[in-house]
Amino acid sequence: MALKKYISPDKTITVYNEDCLKVLSKIEDKSVSLIVTSPPYCIGKEYENLTDDIDSFKNLNKSVIKECIRLLKPGGSLCWQVGFHIKNSVIVPLDCLIYNIVQEINTLLPKDEQLLLHNRIVWTFGHGLNAEKRLSGRYETIMWFTKGPEYLFDLDSIRVPQKYPGKKYSHGPKAGQYSGNPLGKNPTDVWDIPNVKANHVEKTNHPCQFPIVIPQRLIKCLTNKGDVVLDPFSGSGTTAIACIIEERKFIGCEIKECYFDIIKKRVTDAFDGNIPYRPDVPVIEPDLNQKVAQKPGDFKW
Ligand SMILES: C[S@@+](CC[C@H](N)C(=O)[O-])C[C@H]1O[C@@H](n2cnc3c(N)ncnc32)[C@H](O)[C@@H]1O
Repeated sequence: MALKKYISPDKTITVYNEDCLKVLSKIEDKSVSLIVTSPPYCIGKEYENLTDDIDSFKNLNKSVIKECIRLLKPGGSLCWQVGFHIKNSVIVPLDCLIYNIVQEINTLLPKDEQLLLHNRIVWTFGHGLNAEKRLSGRYETIMWFTKGPEYLFDLDSIRVPQKYPGKKYSHGPKAGQYSGNPLGKNPTDVWDIPNVKANHVEKTNHPCQFPIVIPQRLIKCLTNKGDVVLDPFSGSGTTAIACIIEERKFIGCEIKECYFDIIKKRVTDAFDGNIPYRPDVPVIEPDLNQKVAQKPGDFKW
């Protein structure tokens, strides 16, 4: 039976409303430059089976990552965005499981096809659920691997503004010259980016979107224009939108029809230039002159 899919009019975006394993098996070896995704964490979200547990997470991710390695071009990148599996206030850091899965798969592969980890990016955000029996969680991670040791990394494309751009060397041969790079600084492996909660401009009816800027940064520094990017767990299609903005081709899979419909609408809106989008700008500290930023008189701290 033919796979259910949507193809954008310019043919750069293809999204399947299917199980990703079914779709990936039909994609040609070494045809994808970058894979960016966030799989289900098996914590009882509306798109998960209630019986899904850590073993389901391991089994699904192992099968999908194996296929992803086959599809990646030599030097291509795989970026796996995960948080924590949480049950009764006990947490499992899913990136540790992903690391172990990748090491296990690596033992079966020739050296030049193995995945090498370059960064464990900490994505930190200011808001979320407030825990009562542990510290409130305010970060997730992105594991960035490449297929082999030779890879593209265009740092200049993702530099961010320096805190003190006017700082100069005070002595030595460069005295009086600016000490920072005029193109901005390395964004580091800690990214402070608001998560997509109710009032975020990018919010759709999908319960767990990541912000566009996450795949956008990865796409900019790890691929060239026209390259193919894959997201096997597309959700609301955030990676597809980042591809449209950055002029890359996209292949995605989303198993649930209601989210597939959200992706189609977002893609159409993006091509029409109507996609609500928070640009890649630093988070602004609260203005202490604003009333909401001041401590109410009856607060005890
Ligand atoms: C964490 S969400 C991804 C959210 C996405 N990053 C975004 O910004 O919207 C994971 C998605 O994977 C989908 N999914 C789960 N199992 C799948 C499978 N086997 N094949 C394709 N999609 C799947 C779920 O329905 C869910 O929408």
